[in-house]
Amino acid sequence: MRIGILGYGNMGRAFALGLKDKYDILAFDKDIIKKDTALQDGVGFASSTHFLMENVDVLLLSIKPQDLINLSIDIKNKSIISILAGISMNRLKDVFKEAFMTRIMPNLGVLKNKGVIAFHSEDPKKEELKSMISLLGNVYELEEKYFDAFTAIGGSGPALIASIVEAMRLSGVYMGLNKDISYDIVINMIFGTLELLKEYSEEELILKVSSPGGTTIEGIYNIEKSGIRGALMESFIKAYEKSKKL
Ligand SMILES: NC(=O)c1ccc[n+]([C@@H]2O[C@H](COP(=O)([O-])OP(=O)(O)OC[C@H]3O[C@@H](n4cnc5c(N)ncnc54)[C@H](OP(=O)(O)O)[C@@H]3O)[C@@H](O)[C@H]2O)c1
Repeated sequence: MRIGILGYGNMGRAFALGLKDKYDILAFDKDIIKKDTALQDGVGFASSTHFLMENVDVLLLSIKPQDLINLSIDIKNKSIISILAGISMNRLKDVFKEAFMTRIMPNLGVLKNKGVIAFHSEDPKKEELKSMISLLGNVYELEEKYFDAFTAIGGSGPALIASIVEAMRLSGVYMGLNKDISYDIVINMIFGTLELLKEYSEEELILKVSSPGGTTIEGIYNIEKSGIRGALMESFIKAYEKSKKL
């Protein structure tokens, strides 16, 4: 299966790098500077959109949503995978009337092949495409109506986690720790916690760490008093509502 990538920007490139060891990749981007990047990455670069379409079995569409309106390609009986945020399956089928459509929503983790990726396909080659995409991370086959919820927690999630890491690191600095040591402690604590959460539920873990009258329960009490759980949920719900409006 030869894969074409239309739009060799942040995401198109991330997909090319994640897939190139297992698949033959050919890219095209209207920004000619991207040709050098692709060739340096060991990815073939087509001379035109037309050439790209003639020579691939599957097209990964990774241009910006606003560029879709200027795109004119003739695709018959080929597979298209769109990563365009906010562009529905119906809209895609309107544009690519005779193609087999798949819509995915990746998060930034795909840069490290550790993404979470929502997947919705009407392609007869669905299973093959799903296993291909899983090279970039964990794939969740979802009805399209859940894509906004996915975008809120899976897509925006890394930014929220980064904010928590930053707050914890700054707390360490406030208490006198060197900024790099503080960062290292936070990151390694998170990796360890994720391992523990494979064995214990969130509630069990909180109780395990909280000794009676100790420091952790003091912190937990403050978290609950400030309503942080509700505030966090509110942030994701706002992101969800915003995604629905796009
Ligand atoms: N970045 C994320 O975290 C993320 C997450 C989920 C989904 N997405 C989706 O991924 C898509 C790509 O995002 P990105 O951040 O990778 O964008 P990007 O870096 O701007 O890359 C898009 C590339 O496509 C090129 N392009 C535009 N129209 C073209 C055409 N007709 N033919 C060939 N190339 C064309 C652009 O060239 P010019 O610069 O010259 O216009 C640009 O190099 C978007 O639809 C976005 O919604 C992104």
